Amino acid sequence: MDVEPLCGSLDASAEAMRFPSLPTVHPGAERPPWTRHARPCAAQAKSGPFRRMLTQRDRLALQYGDLVLFDIALPQGVVLEEVPAGDEAPLLPEEEALLGLRAVDRRRTDVAVGRTAARRALSKLGLPKTPIGRGALGEPLWPAGAVGSITHAAGIGLAAAALDDRFAGIGLDLEHADRYFAGLEDEISFGAERDELGTPPDGRDVVELFAVKEATYKALSPLVGRYFGFEAAQVRRVDGAPTVMLREDLDDSYVTGTVVPVTIQWSGDLVLAVVAIPAD
Ligand SMILES: CC(C)(COP(=O)(O)OP(=O)(O)OC[C@H]1O[C@@H](n2cnc3c(N)ncnc32)[C@H](O)[C@@H]1OP(=O)(O)O)[C@@H](O)C(=O)NCCC(=O)NCCS
Repeated sequence: MDVEPLCGSLDASAEAMRFPSLPTVHPGAERPPWTRHARPCAAQAKSGPFRRMLTQRDRLALQYGDLVLFDIALPQGVVLEEVPAGDEAPLLPEEEALLGLRAVDRRRTDVAVGRTAARRALSKLGLPKTPIGRGALGEPLWPAGAVGSITHAAGIGLAAAALDDRFAGIGLDLEHADRYFAGLEDEISFGAERDELGTPPDGRDVVELFAVKEATYKALSPLVGRYFGFEAAQVRRVDGAPTVMLREDLDDSYVTGTVVPVTIQWSGDLVLAVVAIPAD
């Protein structure tokens, strides 16, 4: 796998950065994501009499079928699995208990596609099938020896995982471009970051920023053991690629100036952000 080094620094305090040489990938440098073809039954369903009854979410799931959406170059040791709605395995009893009695179908599907993807990722790492619980912050609880992250959007679940002797934390976020609404930029961007988006901003740029920050949160909040808001990290573009730097101390290890390694990829109207924090 050919990856490029992290694209330079964000300001003069580069020496303080903790992860100066981690790999990242420039958007557009990857192979085309559409590497497999939809199953014939999916194509028929799309053009059949059910068409008008389908929600946008259903259409996306059908359209994507068993395509590989994100053929993304990840840091070595990180595995990524994606599961469209309809391909999910039943939840394990411990996971059913997380849902509660009143869970709507959509929530059930989201949890199931995410956990199915997570188990496939663990299997790729050579780890046994195990329930994936939920911690106090909402984070998935991975079995001993593994770290990972789950995301779901547009009827698709993705999970990334790695062995914990290589990575301390993983954050994954999938967003559809239609997540944008006017004013989202004011909630998630600050200072130079906001200026960089321009006025009015391109909604896709805002959604990409959102995905990068959510992935940052998912990677780091379990490590620091608390919630932190969108102002805690600054995302700037360096040579076209987003780079993330903490703007505040999250704990004694993850302090102001820490660079958080992120990889992003767009696939149609979906953007995926992956943060992988190496183990020390
Ligand atoms: C928790 C949050 C990140 C979820 O993101 P989302 O885009 O709404 O939903 P996604 O489908 O992408 O991700 C949901 C999954 O995130 C995971 N997750 C939830 N809380 C988490 C946490 N604190 N740490 C790690 N992963 C978490 C869960 O696995 C969840 O799926 P599950 O309920 O099926 O297990 C988001 O709702 C949130 O609270 N964001 C505010 C905090 C933030 O982003 N700060 C920015 C810091 S720069």
